[in-house]
Amino acid sequence: MQEHVIILGGGVIGLATAFELQRRGHQVTVLEKVQCGGQASGAAAGMLAPYSEIGEDVDDFFDLCLASLKLYPDWQREVKAVSKQDFEYSNSGSLHAVFHEADLLGLEARQRWQREFGAEAHILEGAVLQKIEPELTDQVIAAMYYPEESHIYAPDYVKALETACRNSSVRIYDQLEEVTVKQWKEQIILQSKDGRKFTGDRLVICSGAWSQELEGTFGIRIPVYPIRGQICAYEIPVPKVKHIIFSSQGYFVPKANGSLVAGASEDIAGFKTDITEKGIARLENWTKKVFPFLSSKQPFHKWAGLRPATQDGYPLLGKLANDPQIIFATGHYRNGILLSPVTAHAVADLIENKKEQVRLTSFHPERFN
Ligand code: FAD
Ligand code: GLY
Repeated sequence: MQEHVIILGGGVIGLATAFELQRRGHQVTVLEKVQCGGQASGAAAGMLAPYSEIGEDVDDFFDLCLASLKLYPDWQREVKAVSKQDFEYSNSGSLHAVFHEADLLGLEARQRWQREFGAEAHILEGAVLQKIEPELTDQVIAAMYYPEESHIYAPDYVKALETACRNSSVRIYDQLEEVTVKQWKEQIILQSKDGRKFTGDRLVICSGAWSQELEGTFGIRIPVYPIRGQICAYEIPVPKVKHIIFSSQGYFVPKANGSLVAGASEDIAGFKTDITEKGIARLENWTKKVFPFLSSKQPFHKWAGLRPATQDGYPLLGKLANDPQIIFATGHYRNGILLSPVTAHAVADLIENKKEQVRLTSFHPERFN
């Protein structure tokens, strides 16, 4: 049955979900209180890097991330085709760098369990490492090379997603300032500040770091908190840095437009999206250490965004048990860009009562009650 789905929030998760649902023939409306892609999604570094981001152990979250990485080649092609907008999607591969002998053991442990999941993961040292990333400091004693890890230019990707949605007749209402859920039990009715009403059969919550505001509405705990990420970019000659460089203190992502993105802090600062001298200074110091050729350079661009973090680090992805018309797709924390295709597919499958392609049990939205 084709349904009318209302999506609350026009970040990467809301837009990707809208795009997938519309492709499957549903009628979709996106309600955005400010600007689509104007929050965390437009601020992201765009790494598609499950092996680098999840080093500890395998769990459902790792499976979810890996499934999404594998959806990306077809997904991004489809977004480009429907939007008729190009954006950078680079299969650069990544290097997870370590600086101390003691960290080598950790790298080997990572390689063992990740290889069980089919990861291509090679530990590189000395001249081999130097050859594939010549500007990396010689203080790096080894690095795990993950050829499958990729990155995307997040601001352009989100713009293309919005255009793809509009081109395929998703109704997008932005600059609504405030959207209130008026009814959600029998019928779904939302209202914007200017009094406009929006009705639908289903409601998908994609409101990122602001999701906790809906606790009163649904009477459940929604422990989603904003964690600010301060980030900056240097201008560099292309292709001076070739791979994503990941390390315990920060990461670097070389973009085709000649910027090297250096990120990112994890601060508790409420809903503030300003940058601080201390936050950027830490990134600058780390950059000098990892890339000596940038020692005397200053970043040309500095910004910040609010990651939607949850109490246990997992997203909220699923239907309410007694009210399946309400679906949560929020709390993607550090990996919302990576997780956008798999989330979109999962929500569409939930709405169509299809068998799950990935296990969602760990992500149940009512697990904190
Ligand atoms: P958002 O993009 O924040 O969108 C939520 C939207 O909902 C907002 O536009 C907001 O205005 C709207 N909204 C809120 N409440 C309401 C309401 N009541 N009514 C209507 N609209 C509402 N992820 C990766 O995968 N790879 C990376 O390399 C990466 N790097 C990052 C670097 C930084 C510095 C930061 C900050 C994040 C990074 N992330 C990365 C994480 C990623 O950006 C987030 O996980 C993702 O953007 C979350 O998407 P979202 O749509 O849930 O949230
Ligand atoms: N995934 C990178 C970040 O959140 O900063």
